[in-house]
Amino acid sequence: MQLIKDLNTFSATRSRLEGEIGLVPTMGFLHEGHKALIRKARMECSILIVTIFVNPTQFAPGEDLDTYPRNLPNDLSICEELEVDYVFAPESVSVLYPEGFCTFVECKIGLPETNPRSEGAFRPHFFRGVATVVTKLFNIVKPSKAYFGQKDAQQCSVIQRMVVDLNLNIEIVIVPTVREADGLAMSSRNAYLTKEERGKAIILFQMLQKAKQLYLEGITNASRIREEMEVLAKQVDGFRLHYISICDPKTFIEYENEIPSSNTLVCVAGTLGKARLIDNICLN
Ligand code: PAJ
Repeated sequence: MQLIKDLNTFSATRSRLEGEIGLVPTMGFLHEGHKALIRKARMECSILIVTIFVNPTQFAPGEDLDTYPRNLPNDLSICEELEVDYVFAPESVSVLYPEGFCTFVECKIGLPETNPRSEGAFRPHFFRGVATVVTKLFNIVKPSKAYFGQKDAQQCSVIQRMVVDLNLNIEIVIVPTVREADGLAMSSRNAYLTKEERGKAIILFQMLQKAKQLYLEGITNASRIREEMEVLAKQVDGFRLHYISICDPKTFIEYENEIPSSNTLVCVAGTLGKARLIDNICLN
């Protein structure tokens, strides 16, 4: 495995590579969720490239950019173990954002007017940062396939839409959410949870299970399902619910009343202490 920290070395290396190239973009602090993406990519591609870069343009002022967990040595040993060929971990922000940088990629799916109960609405510039850095990584790495986790459902939709809209000719592979034994979706931000908060954090999964249970019982009214999920959320001291969204998984357009018999995504987000947590399930 080779670690590359600058653009010139990466480009020179990339120009010598041939075959099916798989890309797993990450912000590091790798856990089992990231590992599932890497393992799948390893099985499907002849060359596997993982990128590790905490992307400042997807954090708003006051968010956790400075405290975002980082552990490059441990990430590298995980990549080595999983037989990654190249890790591209820019040594500074300026590698990807040199002085004068002022061009961004924006997808309407990521914007608040599409859905007021969405990541785009709660973190308005988030998807602009994600779409921009992922486009840059796609252009630098030139992969045939790129791997993303279902845990970040709206991110997947933005990337899939962007690839079509910008004719990027990259196959996007979505990998199911990896969970802890009690159902909590794995996330680098789970590291912020205190022991007590960790116990409460399964509320997101419980709310999603409740939605599924209601749907299976024949309740197909989105507002009714949302209300019952809200009741659960209120029972957990310290949990600040940001949104419950019941929507189309491609467009993120919200269902207010009757849910269709297929293609319904339920997303939840909220904070517990310093940790902002998100999760989702497909209802049908
Ligand atoms: P990061 O949060 O590090 O996640 C990297 C990839 O791992 C994403 O595609 C994410 O959806 C996936 N992932 C995280 N937790 C997962 C879990 N529990 N199960 C399955 N997949 C999981 O997402 C980002 O970084 C950034 O926004 C990035 C795409 C790298 C752009 O900066």
